[in-house]
Amino acid sequence: MTGFELDEKFLRSRRHAKWNMYKPDVIPAWVAEMDFALADPIRKAVAALSDQMDLGYPLREGGVAENAVGTAFSRRMKSLFGWDTDPKLVQPVADLVQGTFAPIMAFSEKGDGIVLQTPAYPPFYEAINTLARQLVANPLRDGADRYEIDFDALEASIGPRTRMVMLCNPQNPTGRVFSRAELERIGKIALAHDMIVVSDEIHSDLVHPGHEHIPFGSLSPELGARTITITSATKSFNIPGTRCAVLHFGTQELKDKFHERIPRRILGAPSIVGIDATIAAWDDSQPWLDEVLAYLTANRDHLARRVAADLPGVTFHKPEATYMAWLNCSGLKLDKPAQQFFLEEAKVGMSAGETFDPAYAHHARLNFATSRSILDEMIDRMAAAVARRGRSEAAA
Ligand SMILES: Cc1ncc(COP(=O)(O)O)c(C=O)c1O
Repeated sequence: MTGFELDEKFLRSRRHAKWNMYKPDVIPAWVAEMDFALADPIRKAVAALSDQMDLGYPLREGGVAENAVGTAFSRRMKSLFGWDTDPKLVQPVADLVQGTFAPIMAFSEKGDGIVLQTPAYPPFYEAINTLARQLVANPLRDGADRYEIDFDALEASIGPRTRMVMLCNPQNPTGRVFSRAELERIGKIALAHDMIVVSDEIHSDLVHPGHEHIPFGSLSPELGARTITITSATKSFNIPGTRCAVLHFGTQELKDKFHERIPRRILGAPSIVGIDATIAAWDDSQPWLDEVLAYLTANRDHLARRVAADLPGVTFHKPEATYMAWLNCSGLKLDKPAQQFFLEEAKVGMSAGETFDPAYAHHARLNFATSRSILDEMIDRMAAAVARRGRSEAAA
């Protein structure tokens, strides 16, 4: 056992969605949350607010509390990626999905096209559809050992009203970490067609060894000037309930233009719990994350070995980042969506592939950020379900 693994009894005793959405006989492996204890600096920061009864209107660093998130973001970008950012160009918000909707509203009109690599995190579609923009889908190609961007298809799909690229890097659900060459190619296309790039980098702290995250906004000043980076500490430090995220604009001009359409006041602000938890995460919790990431990489490799050995008909490319495995179950030739099959037959509750792209019902996304024993129990159940099915088909 490590210091951060949590057992099933404790996980089921809490009130959050992951362990309560499905019936108690199901092991959940869906929403992007980890079954791990919080980093101590975060626990202490949140406890201090309550212990000191310090939940009034907050100040931090002698000013408006949310500004302190901007300075923590800049420190983090510098220390992780050597990227110089100006805290004044950061707009804190409550969550990243809000940070997806707002730039679309600010930088495009109804009917304008938005490029999205698919399969994709469902709220990206929700933002494009709700705001009556056009989805310009750029399906990722299933390559030999990873998913790849189809640049020819991308170029061909861009029309005169294609205004934005919604980039997700590292990519959810495939776990791809796009290389500098790939990002530069996207950048070239964005410049050629005068497109704004919204780069969701929420998973950028969760990159496995051998891969490197490069912030899109850091590629060059001219790309920075058209990039809104959206990120938060909530995935990598496991605090999504605290509600705090940031939008970073490459220039003051870009930020001003954004606020012409989206007044600051309408964005609200993160709560002091989110602000203090985020600062404690980014400034003081890296040692915790180092240990957790090593555990996740080992879980990923273990899952790959066990899927190859025990789940015939299921394959996946090892994710380069994130704790999600995008399982291709097409070899099982199921007559129902893969998520439904494993929920009903194995009592393992993954995320449904078709919610990331209607063409992917034969995929399911498995969250492996849990203790090794729970992960093994999931795989055992899935392997037994596949074996039972094989036996009943042979008998038929
Ligand atoms: C790519 C991506 N963006 C955004 C989010 C959600 O962020 P928030 O809870 O801050 O809205 C997630 C959560 O899984 C995600 O995977």
